[in-house]
Amino acid sequence: MATVTYDQATRIYPGADKPSVDRLNLDIADGEFLVLVGPSGSGKSTALRMLAGLEETNEGRILIGDRDVTKASPKDRDIAMVFQNYALYPHMTVRENIGFALKIAGMDKAEINRRVEEAAKTLDLTQYLDRKPKALSGGQRQRVAMGRAIVREPQVFLMDEPLSNLDAKLRVQTRTQIANLQRRMGVTTIYVTHDQTEALTMGDRIAVLNFGVLQQVGTPRELYEHPNNVFVAGFIGSPAMNLSTFDVDAASRTARAGQAAIPLSDEVLARITPEDNGQVILGFRPEALELVDASAEHTIPVEVDFVEELGSDSFIYGHLAGGGWRSEGREEGDAGEIVLRTPPLSGAREGDVIHARIKDGGLHAFSKATGTRI
Ligand SMILES: Nc1ncnc2c1ncn2[C@@H]1O[C@H](COP(=O)(O)OP(=O)(O)OP(=O)(O)O)[C@@H](O)[C@H]1O
Ligand SMILES: [Mg+2]
Repeated sequence: MATVTYDQATRIYPGADKPSVDRLNLDIADGEFLVLVGPSGSGKSTALRMLAGLEETNEGRILIGDRDVTKASPKDRDIAMVFQNYALYPHMTVRENIGFALKIAGMDKAEINRRVEEAAKTLDLTQYLDRKPKALSGGQRQRVAMGRAIVREPQVFLMDEPLSNLDAKLRVQTRTQIANLQRRMGVTTIYVTHDQTEALTMGDRIAVLNFGVLQQVGTPRELYEHPNNVFVAGFIGSPAMNLSTFDVDAASRTARAGQAAIPLSDEVLARITPEDNGQVILGFRPEALELVDASAEHTIPVEVDFVEELGSDSFIYGHLAGGGWRSEGREEGDAGEIVLRTPPLSGAREGDVIHARIKDGGLHAFSKATGTRI
């Protein structure tokens, strides 16, 4: 087992004008399960491949334990990687598939059998050892791919979207198994996904990448409750945080967008700079909103587009009544939607205008100029 350190690690692909991983600094503790998330093209796979030695590190260093492995060949790094498109050998049994790398390495047959059988037991594959991959379910095949990594008893596991070709139900099941297995084995693990639910449920800590730049690293709770910038605020959480640009009205100490008025604290007001041009980006999660009477002061009037009743609670999807919402931080396809989570049967119906207020502690404020939390 070992720690992993990225120290200003940078990867610039030949011919590229910008780094795909840009001065990455990240310390991963011994035995930690770190989840690396970010949108497509943000550099997640590149960062993993740099650690595995499959991609050159152009600047900076990578350490495993105390050892600088920046220039070490992949086979000298003691890392096992599970890819999204793991290919099992179709003509080999599960036992042969799991033990193949050990056989190639010239390991003693008895030792191979011992390791394969132990891995199979861990992965609940003992009864399938003599089957061929085509006679296995998707989840079982995925576990065989894990088995190949486990038997190598590496210092570090790297997993690059290992669940992406499983169906939704199997994903949920398998991600629990992987998280449990990792905790039991205690091997330092970096797990890549672009599924933020996976990130929130599996990792000890999450590192968020965007355009090759590390945005924030912290526990799932820290990222959810205290996002450092607009990108992380919009990326972590589903449905996403409601985020819009507001105009600051210093006289009334409120932020305004269309007919919405949100009171600002002294702290937020004091941190707005001339570069922000009288604007601020405000965010509030769906569960941070509560319905209030139309006559209440400082509300967000929302015209309801549709209501989703989930039994335990309901989501109201709408938009700012009268317009004026300026979305921030969301990915494509955002039509200025505002989402509220309320107790079930709120009575709101399509076309209604309801009034929402942000609960205490539910407001996140970000600089318009820099996007960082204020
Ligand atoms: N071999 C390569 N040569 C040149 N550019 C590459 C190469 N591989 C990746 N890139 C570029 O580097 C950036 C990061 O790619 P990477 O594969 O690391 O992203 P990712 O976060 O894993 O995305 P995804 O979620 O789609 O797998 C992208 O802009 C990509 O186009
Ligand atoms: Mg990738």
